[in-house]
Amino acid sequence: MTDDFADQIILVTGAGDGIGRASARRFAELGGIVVLIDVRGVEEVEAELTAKGCTVIGATMDVRNGAAWNKLVADLLVRFGRIDVLVNNAGIAMPGDSVIGSTEDMWDQMMSINAKGVWLGMQAVLPAMVAAKRGKICNVASTAAHIGLRDAAVYCASKGAVLALTRQAGVQYAADNVQINSVSPGTTMTGIQRTVTDAQRAAFLPLTPIGRFAQSEEVAETIVFLCSAGSSFVTGADLSVDGGMVAL
Ligand SMILES: NC(=O)c1ccc[n+]([C@@H]2O[C@H](COP(=O)([O-])OP(=O)(O)OC[C@H]3O[C@@H](n4cnc5c(N)ncnc54)[C@H](O)[C@@H]3O)[C@@H](O)[C@H]2O)c1
Repeated sequence: MTDDFADQIILVTGAGDGIGRASARRFAELGGIVVLIDVRGVEEVEAELTAKGCTVIGATMDVRNGAAWNKLVADLLVRFGRIDVLVNNAGIAMPGDSVIGSTEDMWDQMMSINAKGVWLGMQAVLPAMVAAKRGKICNVASTAAHIGLRDAAVYCASKGAVLALTRQAGVQYAADNVQINSVSPGTTMTGIQRTVTDAQRAAFLPLTPIGRFAQSEEVAETIVFLCSAGSSFVTGADLSVDGGMVAL
């Protein structure tokens, strides 16, 4: 493994399920103090990781809520004095998402969770990271940021925003020794796949050179790498974890 996260303060959003849960588990196994952020309860993940002897802190929070972000970060700074890592992973997709089929409500929900939530998270932790001249942020984008996926119009737009924001912030804070990168997962077998029909998912398989879909743990390993000391000269970058889809 790339790093030892002993005693690092690591915030993971969307930690209640899927890629976020797998990432939180890996950081915790590597010794991090992991703050499990999710809009729904994270008791199950907390119980799983605490039983393994890991140190985790549950935080029920909506990533769209800037005041909640600021309070969480202020509380953590009082308690620990620093934030080492932020993984902005929480995100949603919605069915019927073509330009014609999508609604203003779908636009508002996907843009506010997938894009605004990432911006708010970075805005909350960056002052402390910049002051400490140390920090790592990994945002979760998607292949949808790189190619036009059918029935994912607003989702594609929201993930394009994540990619652009990551690039910009990576440049802005590079000299402050804060590295900001993103991952772009391909089809990964998580709860978000409920928004896609079996037929739609099957259509992705020939577009995935590796010939199968990802497990959450495979994406988590890349997120952990981008937050580790081993990625010290990587910033403003996006790493595809898609079985070769966007290389096709
Ligand atoms: N699974 C895939 O195929 C795939 C592919 C590319 C990108 N992604 C991205 O990966 C990330 C994780 O998705 P996943 O596949 O693990 O999905 P998931 O549905 O399994 O997990 C997402 C988690 O985010 C939480 N969440 C949703 N809205 C939230 C909010 N407003 N505030 C806080 N938490 C919230 C959910 O409660 C859930 O626990 C998302 O950003 C998604 O867009 C997933």
